[in-house]
Amino acid sequence: MPPSEFLGIASAPPGAALDLALVRAQLSAKRLGSSFHYLQEIDSTNSYARQLAEVGTAEGAIIIAESQTQGRGRLGRRWQSPPFSNLYLSFILRPDLSPRHAPQITLTAAVAVAETVGAFLRRAPSIKWPNDILFDGKKLAGILSEAVCDTERVEYVILGIGLNLNYPVDAMPEELRGRATSMADLTGARVSRENVLSRLIQDLDRCYGDLGESGFEMVRPRWEAHFDLRGRRVRVDVGGRPLVGWARGLDREGALIVEDEQGERRSIVAGDVIPLEI
Ligand code: BTN
Repeated sequence: MPPSEFLGIASAPPGAALDLALVRAQLSAKRLGSSFHYLQEIDSTNSYARQLAEVGTAEGAIIIAESQTQGRGRLGRRWQSPPFSNLYLSFILRPDLSPRHAPQITLTAAVAVAETVGAFLRRAPSIKWPNDILFDGKKLAGILSEAVCDTERVEYVILGIGLNLNYPVDAMPEELRGRATSMADLTGARVSRENVLSRLIQDLDRCYGDLGESGFEMVRPRWEAHFDLRGRRVRVDVGGRPLVGWARGLDREGALIVEDEQGERRSIVAGDVIPLEI
């Protein structure tokens, strides 16, 4: 995309701190943004958010860091978090959900991130189940949600989002190049972190509100609209055991439906999905 067509060009110089006052001035969120916690550097915004949640910090708190020394990804992976270039943030959510429905928060967040990215790039990204945001098959954003539950209800969810904005592929570690991308690489222009952040909070606020008020049925078709593995042959590693079949979309609760070679449909609640060639 030529930079001139891109709506979110940065005016702040490279390496500038996030202008949180500007972000807040652009917000009219109902649920999110009850408090902001801005850190120059932290091990992980999810870990910090959890400490805040444990001492009763209210729903909607947003924890943002300029860099993370131990940014965490799914399945024990690391999340590269260089300073002043991307977005690393976590939300404290206290949804009225049963523990088995907690993964719906992640799916809902994936819709919000995809909608934000789509608004800036003017082309929708895809979602790789459950929550990777991909552009042309390369990872642009990731979501890590961690729920704390009692037997009946979710007590709180820490929803962490990492979004690659001004992170040139050339500066990424060798093992990420070819597999990851950033908005600046996709647009050819440095991106306003403030504009993307305020839009992301706004989109998440709306999607989370839809989930709370109307249930997952309101979110599911929007998630599926971004799911480009529907009908594709996939392998899902479920607890270390591979299941091969065809991805059929999400069931009513948010589990991935995979139809195996015998035509039996299985609902997968956790795992990693890998597309297969045939
Ligand atoms: C993944 O795709 O594996 C999930 C990546 C999630 C990264 C974000 S960055 C902000 C928050 N803090 C963390 O330590 N991780 C999440």
